[in-house]
Amino acid sequence: MDELPLISDRAYETVRLIAPELSRVIVKEVFQQEKPFYCEEYPNVRFHLPYDIVVQRKSEFGKFYWNGKVTPHGPHHDSWYQCPINCINIWIAIGSVKIGNGLNIYPQVYGKRLPCTKDGKILSNQYFSSIINFELKPGDALIFHGEHLHSSEINSTDATRYVVSLRMTLEKPQFLEQSPYKDNYIYHHPNNELKARLTELLKGISRRLRKQINSALGKQENQNYIISELAREKFDDASANFPKPIPLKTGEKISLDETKLVFDSSDLPIGTIRPISQKMCVARLKNHQVVAFSRYCPHEEADLAGGHLRDGCIICPWHNLPLSLENGSSPCQSLSPLTIWKCIEDSDKVEIQS
Ligand code: FES
Ligand SMILES: [Fe+2]
Repeated sequence: MDELPLISDRAYETVRLIAPELSRVIVKEVFQQEKPFYCEEYPNVRFHLPYDIVVQRKSEFGKFYWNGKVTPHGPHHDSWYQCPINCINIWIAIGSVKIGNGLNIYPQVYGKRLPCTKDGKILSNQYFSSIINFELKPGDALIFHGEHLHSSEINSTDATRYVVSLRMTLEKPQFLEQSPYKDNYIYHHPNNELKARLTELLKGISRRLRKQINSALGKQENQNYIISELAREKFDDASANFPKPIPLKTGEKISLDETKLVFDSSDLPIGTIRPISQKMCVARLKNHQVVAFSRYCPHEEADLAGGHLRDGCIICPWHNLPLSLENGSSPCQSLSPLTIWKCIEDSDKVEIQS
């Protein structure tokens, strides 16, 4: 792990060299396109370490820790980070990708661009339906549109996940606004490499010239990797497609700290999760048991009312972390357990106790 920054740099250099040829093969063989296309000059190399190791050695990572390489990305569209709106991701497993250290895709959001915060994050009250995950063998690739809402799983396994991701567009890259990536997309021709190289050479010269002129004039390159407020205002309000979960009505509120609540048990069928207050959710598991738990994920406080149930766990909608509804634990030891409250069901009433 000590060598990770060095390994990462080397991997970037290697991948950059092979990316154009690899992209050409993909465009020809997978997309069967004979027309010119564009691909990102600097593909991403992603080492995703087990979360507990990252936390233990957080101070050693410094800036590296925070730049999304070792930390999981939350749900996002790539255009939130000024990537082209027509980009395709080719996410290639170099090592094995397991459930617990892979990628999440939210298929129901496809075709909609959700609003984001000024830091390019999903809104805390945004709901967006179910998640799909994948297991990949080395050499397998996931190909998905950059505007598909996607995120990384928090790495709850003991293995470092290693993938390379290429971005390409099958037509000219289209950006929502000025972007630092504008010059990063290189023209390619699947059948005419000479033409592609000449075009790129000319583009490279004009890029260098522009940089020289700008530095002579003392101008700074515009470096911003998050979409502007102006562009954000044009995003869809998709809240009607993904309505907020309806809070469960409580019949009696016995204590002010909301730890003793009573509700009608018929309002909670098997497999459902309902918020019951600002800080608490309830759910009914397959075995009919009713559980009450803290509404906010101990990782980055995603609203678990938008999660789903699996094998006695609540699955966090942002990074797919399973949290046990028996004792609140998760596979990531360094996270605090989720708070669980005791529920007592008697005929048609459920009482939650502290
Ligand atoms: S796993 Fe990241 S917020 Fe829940
Ligand atoms: Fe992305």
